[in-house]
Amino acid sequence: MHDLLKDAFDAEKFRQQGHQLIDMLADHLNAVQHGNARHGNARHGNAQHTNSPNGKTQQPVISWHKPEDELAFWEQDLAKGQGDALDLFRTVISRSIHLHHNKYMGHQVVPPAPLGALASLLSSFLNNGSAVYEMGAVSNALERVVTQQLCQQIGWQEESGGILTSGGTLANLTALLTARRVKAQANVWGEGMGQKLALMVSAEAHYCVDRAARIMGWGSEGIIKIPVNDKFQMRTELLEEHLAKAKADGLEVIAVVGSACTTSTGAYDNLVEISDFCTKNDLWFHVDGAHGGAVIFSDKYRHLAKGINLADSVVIDMHKMLLAPALTTALLYRKEVDSYRTFAQQAQYLWSSQEDQEWYNMGKRTMECTKLMMSVKVYALIKTYGTSLFDKYVSRQYDLGKSFAELIKKRALFELGIEPSTNIVCFRYKAADVGEDKVDELNSYIRQALVEQGEFYIVQTRLNNKVYLRTTLMNSNTTEKELNELLNRIEELAQHAYGD
Ligand SMILES: Cc1ncc(COP(=O)(O)O)c(C=O)c1O
Repeated sequence: MHDLLKDAFDAEKFRQQGHQLIDMLADHLNAVQHGNARHGNARHGNAQHTNSPNGKTQQPVISWHKPEDELAFWEQDLAKGQGDALDLFRTVISRSIHLHHNKYMGHQVVPPAPLGALASLLSSFLNNGSAVYEMGAVSNALERVVTQQLCQQIGWQEESGGILTSGGTLANLTALLTARRVKAQANVWGEGMGQKLALMVSAEAHYCVDRAARIMGWGSEGIIKIPVNDKFQMRTELLEEHLAKAKADGLEVIAVVGSACTTSTGAYDNLVEISDFCTKNDLWFHVDGAHGGAVIFSDKYRHLAKGINLADSVVIDMHKMLLAPALTTALLYRKEVDSYRTFAQQAQYLWSSQEDQEWYNMGKRTMECTKLMMSVKVYALIKTYGTSLFDKYVSRQYDLGKSFAELIKKRALFELGIEPSTNIVCFRYKAADVGEDKVDELNSYIRQALVEQGEFYIVQTRLNNKVYLRTTLMNSNTTEKELNELLNRIEELAQHAYGD
């Protein structure tokens, strides 16, 4: 064997590098999640190290570089020639955004439980697919176990079942493909489009639902956006009139998508009312629970998704509120038999008949052919900690959202976007002497300055056409202390913006 290949597959080298990498990640975890800097990593970009109460400095959550600078850094790194893998890993860590940092409060991707990351390493190493049973016996069986567990938690009966797939975007598209197969009058899969199809969804839904309709060739007419109320929930009383109009326009509406919850503000649609409407009109009822479907595990908050059990299909991203590394998404069906109808392709080299409902050949029902063992990441968490881990996490983070809202309300110069029911909190700074036209600009400035300073990571959104700062409290080490520090920092930045 060539020396290079020998080296690439050397078991002892793997052992050594593995130990070193895990040590490095554990030190990193220690340094960012509680503000203990055991290993003060090099400072990068404009990011600032901050003092923690124990007198040590805390690494920034993000080391901001302009895109062209980041690209140049890596191009130069490659040009230097071959190097040590551990040095590379160290550099990757230090230049990445740190989701485990207690001041990470940005997007909805979770700081994964470290055990989930270990399971991910195992999955990558074994590289077992799950399209066919022989290539992923454990993977397929665990996928079944995990999806059954989720179905039970929703409150579904034995006839339910599901699959795991690569992300909420793909899962929503897959669910809508099933809906098309089950509800459309024409055999679109076999004969192409007949009548123009459409779905109805809240105007606040994630953009991937809109994208799914367009991918399926329905165009902009095919996505009917239902206006929302002052809590950003779908106005279900408008469904009837939108359906009547769609019919008059020659559209065949096949589905309604409920959001549980919306991305911008964390609003849960009234799923019971959507279900009633779908039953009455023989429409597919899909719930996009990518973020907030996880409340099925929370004794305190499951009422928010009341009616989720009435859906035909439900999507839950486990890399959002269920602590698993990305991508790990469940697409669940109230009647599992429907999932076998989505795709109908022969693949003689994989399975003998597409018609047989073989749970153990997951590729029959997923868009992906090769797919890593996503199931082991979630199964490892359930096996080790039980599902009460999910209950504790979801309940804590949603509680924290409410506490943060109270802190915001106590400060005269801040305005809450909407009373949060989840861990998504939108607010803005509104100085008394700043005209309304300047408030958007001020908040965009604050958000950009925060990113460039690197101490906190938050994002922004638009509500009723105004710019709001947006936090998603994903980190279980974030407390009111960090949230107060964030508000202090925003006040400082706002004062700075007005030139003192
Ligand atoms: C409600 C909702 N649906 C779907 C998605 C897309 O999920 P993914 O990023 O896993 O593709 C998101 C992502 O933020 C979301 O919030």
